[in-house]
Amino acid sequence: MGYVKNVVLIGFMGTGKTSTGRLLAARLGRPFIDVDKELEAENGMTIAEMFALYGEAHFRHKEAEFISRVSRRHNAIIATGGGVVLNPLNLKHLASNSVVISLSASLDTILERTSRRDTRPLLNRPDRAEFVAKLLDERRELYQNAAYIVNTDGISPQLVVERIIVLLKQGGYIRG
Ligand code: S3P
Repeated sequence: MGYVKNVVLIGFMGTGKTSTGRLLAARLGRPFIDVDKELEAENGMTIAEMFALYGEAHFRHKEAEFISRVSRRHNAIIATGGGVVLNPLNLKHLASNSVVISLSASLDTILERTSRRDTRPLLNRPDRAEFVAKLLDERRELYQNAAYIVNTDGISPQLVVERIIVLLKQGGYIRG
């Protein structure tokens, strides 16, 4: 089949990057890489521990370093962390070798989806709802840096995958 671009999922926390990415990879029979999971494995600690022990800047450094490495791969489905868009170099590296798909969701959906787990250090605060609203506003434009944007409000990861597959076919990124 020759050289196949990566499919990279970007988007705010709670837009479903990990669950959608895993399903998409299974569906296409391609390797799945979850950037946060890989960072946790490489550093021998959770993201929350990295933030608590060494601070956010250290995490961002490790994240950028991993992104530059993973961008040299091909054929993979890659789910990124929500803050990957903060560093323009990350986007440049990813875009060089991948089709970037942005997953979006409303503030209400994000608040609902991120209330279930408490593994995200940025959201572990009493004014969570206000903070998420502010962060989403600040980053909204950055999540537009994608070939396609797929809204995930009220739809399952399975359906998001179907929509992505339609777009990838239309764009000539996959056959069928
Ligand atoms: C972050 C999102 C997280 C994780 C870290 C920082 C962010 O990933 O990388 O907690 O800045 O938005 P998810 O988007 O997978 O939750």
